Amino acid sequence: MKQRIIVIATILLILVLGLAEGIASNITNVTEINVLIVVGTKAGSTRETADSIAKALINNGCSVDICTPTEPINLKKYQGVIIGSAIRMGQILPDIKKFAQNNSAELSKIPTSIYILCTTLKHDTPENRATAQTYINPLKEYVSPVSIGLFAGKMDYSKLKFFARFAAKRMVKEPEGDYRDWPQIHNFANNYYRLVIESHT
Ligand SMILES: Cc1cc2nc3c(=O)[nH]c(=O)nc-3n(C[C@H](O)[C@H](O)[C@H](O)COP(=O)(O)O)c2cc1C
Repeated sequence: MKQRIIVIATILLILVLGLAEGIASNITNVTEINVLIVVGTKAGSTRETADSIAKALINNGCSVDICTPTEPINLKKYQGVIIGSAIRMGQILPDIKKFAQNNSAELSKIPTSIYILCTTLKHDTPENRATAQTYINPLKEYVSPVSIGLFAGKMDYSKLKFFARFAAKRMVKEPEGDYRDWPQIHNFANNYYRLVIESHT
């Protein structure tokens, strides 16, 4: 009887230790998530948004690099990629499109999200969301995003070059304003973190 108890206790101990090791290795994996944010900006608001997304991911235990789409980059280092772009004249920035096109094969192996900033969404209506959604269609030829962030952006004439300022004031007739919804942006970041973790467990 005594021997049986010792055998059962030993088996239980082995099971508990195995479980603990499994949990520990999962926790280790979580801290090893490296995320790259590739950001295309003209006047800075999309880059500031990338900084804020990075902060939220770092708070979750990720390490984050931010780069421009023209920098040489080794995607193999990353377990997650987020591509962010400003919208100009209804278009994703050309360098962001090129980045997605050139790295399409590698990106298909990494959970990749896309976010855009545009003033169409300063009024967040279903019609404006549908319009904003069309802006990212050209990127979807090269990337199948695990999530999409459609965000209202910022218009600051002082940050624009002559032609862009002229276009914004006279052609698009867009008044100045910062329409970014930071809680919405942080939700996108936290949700992306959950998606990356799920894809690694
Ligand atoms: C010249 C110009 C054209 C723009 N065209 C559009 C547009 O077609 N649709 C839209 O929703 N927003 C448009 N915007 C708004 C920008 O997408 C928004 O201001 C964004 O936050 C800019 O990002 P950035 O500061 O990173 O450059 C335009 C802005 C400028 C200056």
